[in-house]
Amino acid sequence: MTLKKQKALATGQIISDLCAKFVPHTPFSDLQDQFDLLLYRRRAELAAGRSSKARGIVLIGNSGSGKSTAMTHLFNRHGDLERLEPNKTKAEVISLAVPSPATLKHVGMSCLNAIGYPIRRDRTSGIIWELLQNHLRERETLFLHLDEAQDLHINRNEREVQSVVNTLKSLMQNPSWPTGLILSGMPALKDLLHLDPQLSRRFVPIHLAPISFTTHGNMLMEIIANYLDAAKLPMADGTYNSEFTKRLIHAGAGELGLVIEIIIAAIEEALLADDTSVGLDNFIAAFRRRSGCVDDLNPFISEDFRAVDARKLLAEVEEEEPDVLMPNARKRRRAA
Ligand SMILES: Nc1ncnc2c1ncn2[C@@H]1O[C@H](COP(=O)(O)OP(=O)(O)OP(=O)(O)O)[C@@H](O)[C@H]1O
Ligand SMILES: [Mg+2]
Repeated sequence: MTLKKQKALATGQIISDLCAKFVPHTPFSDLQDQFDLLLYRRRAELAAGRSSKARGIVLIGNSGSGKSTAMTHLFNRHGDLERLEPNKTKAEVISLAVPSPATLKHVGMSCLNAIGYPIRRDRTSGIIWELLQNHLRERETLFLHLDEAQDLHINRNEREVQSVVNTLKSLMQNPSWPTGLILSGMPALKDLLHLDPQLSRRFVPIHLAPISFTTHGNMLMEIIANYLDAAKLPMADGTYNSEFTKRLIHAGAGELGLVIEIIIAAIEEALLADDTSVGLDNFIAAFRRRSGCVDDLNPFISEDFRAVDARKLLAEVEEEEPDVLMPNARKRRRAA
């Protein structure tokens, strides 16, 4: 193996380990507490032979705030939760992303597909959701998690949105097997729930709110130290100060997940450059590589960094890159 390949391999290993780390935060603790409450109450009701209307959680945040990561971590840390697995009927949690286009029929078909019951396209939406309801009961599914759930609502006409509301309600209120819903998505998702008071009162909202220097300045210092420790690299002298933290938060468009991505990307730049510490130059290079922007727009350089629209810069580059494996796949980062 060439020296260059060896380095790529070693760097890849370190970065992959960093990407697998999970930073705990307050909304995640709230999510965890709320999920445990719903799960254990539902199990107790089942054990006692009681049935009640199911409840749900709605996790709201901008693109890059960390919704999908939080949901995956929540389910992974629950060792006692029976997940969907091949050759196993019981699946207490089923989790999937709302497909595109997010018509009611397509969403129902994707749910059936995810649990191993592909169905022909010529069935009506009503039949598909009734079948899904039966399968959820058979599989003893307590929670259905739909990620990217704002798409159930965006670009739909009034009649379609009403059907979505009715379908979600009937899943939760089904007398023979009520299924709890966990919806995660962008802030527009709130509008869907607010259309129907009966529906919205069944959901506990949890917000992955944007971060700021005042609320997260100290926490970020710890997060950076933690990631650098894991990569066995020190911070270059003189890099860390409140001005730097503000620029970092701005570069990540005020979203915790995006800020963490930039920290990891800066560490990667340092490793690739054989630097013995991580400094401002690495953060500058990381943002430049991700956004492709000129230095005047780089929040780590620009004097007037607050005027830079970092979300737009990061989103533009993602939308330009064609996905070779999934050319029709929706691009993940979107302008808020
Ligand atoms: N708590 C966390 N700890 C470590 N990394 C995180 C955390 N939350 C988010 N991230 C990282 O931030 C990035 C964005 O997170 P994620 O994809 O979950 O955001 P999202 O809110 O689902 O965005 P979108 O709406 O675009 O799907 C990912 O690279 C993820 O690994
Ligand atoms: Mg997501």
